[in-house]
Amino acid sequence: MTNQAEAKTRIDALRTEIERHNHLYYIEARPEIGDREYDRLLRELEELEKAHPEFYSPASPTQRVGGAPIERFESVRHAVPMMSLANTYSKEELVEFDLRVQKLIPGEAYSYILEPKIDGVAISLRYEQGELVRALTRGDGTTGDDVTANVRTIRSIPLRLEDMLPPAVLEVRGEVYMDTAGFAKLNAHRQETGLEPFANPRNACAGSLKLLDAREVARRPLDALFYGTGELAGIGFETHEQVLRSLSAYGLRTTARYWLASSIDAVLGQLDELEGLRHAFPFQMDGAVLKVNERRFHERLGYTAKSPRWAVAYKYEPEQAETTLLDITVQVGRTGVLTPVAELEPVLLAGTTVRRATLHNEEEIRRKDIRIGDKVVIEKAGEIIPAVVRVVEERRTGAERDFAMPQTCPVCGGEVVKRDGEVALRCTNLQCPAQVKNWLTHFASRSAMDIDGLGESLVEQLVDVGLVRNPADLYQLDRDDLLRLERMGDKSAANLLKGIEQSRQRPFECLLLGLGIRHVGKGAAIVLANEFKDIDALMEADAPQLESIRDIGPVVAHSVVGYFQDPQARTTVEALRKAGVNMHQAAAEAGNELEGVTFVLTGTLESMGREEAGERIRARGGKVSSSVSKNTSYLVAGASAGSKLDKAEELGVTVLDEAQFIALLGSEVQRADRQAGQMGFGF
Ligand code: IVH
Repeated sequence: MTNQAEAKTRIDALRTEIERHNHLYYIEARPEIGDREYDRLLRELEELEKAHPEFYSPASPTQRVGGAPIERFESVRHAVPMMSLANTYSKEELVEFDLRVQKLIPGEAYSYILEPKIDGVAISLRYEQGELVRALTRGDGTTGDDVTANVRTIRSIPLRLEDMLPPAVLEVRGEVYMDTAGFAKLNAHRQETGLEPFANPRNACAGSLKLLDAREVARRPLDALFYGTGELAGIGFETHEQVLRSLSAYGLRTTARYWLASSIDAVLGQLDELEGLRHAFPFQMDGAVLKVNERRFHERLGYTAKSPRWAVAYKYEPEQAETTLLDITVQVGRTGVLTPVAELEPVLLAGTTVRRATLHNEEEIRRKDIRIGDKVVIEKAGEIIPAVVRVVEERRTGAERDFAMPQTCPVCGGEVVKRDGEVALRCTNLQCPAQVKNWLTHFASRSAMDIDGLGESLVEQLVDVGLVRNPADLYQLDRDDLLRLERMGDKSAANLLKGIEQSRQRPFECLLLGLGIRHVGKGAAIVLANEFKDIDALMEADAPQLESIRDIGPVVAHSVVGYFQDPQARTTVEALRKAGVNMHQAAAEAGNELEGVTFVLTGTLESMGREEAGERIRARGGKVSSSVSKNTSYLVAGASAGSKLDKAEELGVTVLDEAQFIALLGSEVQRADRQAGQMGFGF
């Protein structure tokens, strides 16, 4: 594309289109296109923006994951202060709140909206002429931190409002949160890598928003929900319900449920309904918020020093239970980290029976002065992982025992060390059966080598009888070996051998994931596989080379280099190579990654004939058609392309030039950002 005006038109179209797909994918959960197609659009936009820096826009979807880390956050004054809410803890207090409202606006007919209270981190977004220009934390309510670069990485937040005629200024207020599943995964990974786990999703979320490197933030599973406004210009709302509906129409996520009520009595009933849904929301809900619906009463009701008089929070008690700490055991994870675990007298908490709770590490046990035999209060921190909150000291009998972490690995007796800067103790013996078992289970898992039939109990047996000491040994197993194991019949043995056999052909990134390199999750494995194409190239890469790759940060880079420097790791790689395991990207590519993708070829290609181009498309499962229609995925336009090009442009079909087409065939880079949630803490 040579003409500037044309480039601008295409850039605008791509930006709108990509954001539309973001919305469909992240908010509506009904994507219309696959990862590859999305990636292609993004890549086309990146290339055009590179060629035309004059059209730079911070609102472009290419700008979501920012550049270099920053030194510190800038403090910015809120246009409208960010206030807090007064808390109530009982229905009686809510009735009192209503009486105060009645007194302040006597004789007025008003209604209420009841909505969930999200336990996240408050955020204020400022859109000017529809473009996201700033994101501020609450800070002290008057001045907040400018976390715009970090907030841009949250894919469900639109960089541009979905409106052709957006208001001059729209400030929206809401909560950034980490969803339950993402939090559990992040914490599991942190523990595995010797980092202190976050106490709950709120802390994890606050910690993530305060990271100075937006690339790292992009890897954190953050989301956001909006429930209010700050400064407004060129727009007004009559009711809070209208606010919720408008925000949603602008493409901002709002609560999936809210309740409108014409009296406090109605609210009290709805409160129970909302509480019943407490666990149905994807975020941690720590209560409900009641708001007067009519905004014209808000000014009249006014504000106290800290909070509005037109809204109030109704807080839930955290779910806790008391039980006895029977023992403290120590688990060894895949990377050798020793984690103390509380073995509890079973107790019912938030609908489930809890038998164990994490104690994180020794320091935590010291800090809380936890002893074996203690009566302890446990809580579902963020309602997911039970944690020991405190000891009930009054109930101590004197028979309680102190706990100390073992000096050697409880599984293999090997040496344990504390690495610099880590709180966790770690077993250094790579042959430690605990590590080997965890490693094998991970190696065989679906997203890695996908070995059907190789579950935890079988791994347990294989390691215990000494048949397998590392993943390469799996490929030496034969039928007789397997038949000697417990509960192993002919059929399961044959299935397992078939599963092992098939895993030899797994894509390169699956092997990379399966190797269990610290910090290399599925996302990072895909990026590395696409970049290096085979294991030898990857083994030779140094840290700067790895860090220069988009989506690979210093932590992953150093971990990869460190891994391949270890002679044991190299031995494993060589043994796997000898066993015939695929270590190249190419073998994975000749698959069907273009399945469902239809191409039309037009004009003359320089590097290959049309026939060859067609063959290469078909070899990857794609289709070639002779005429352009709205079902065409790509028009590949060589030199002197004619009417098909016009038709494609008219129908909005994506046009590829020869270089782009070859790039598409050569490296089907997966959409790294969609996997970003997994990247770095991948399993
Ligand atoms: S409205 C003027 N609605 O809870 C303040 N706040 O404990 C209006 N929060 O500061 C706030 N969910 O950060 C509102 N549905 C919701 C909320 C909510 C969570 C947060 C917010 C607020 C804090 C007060």
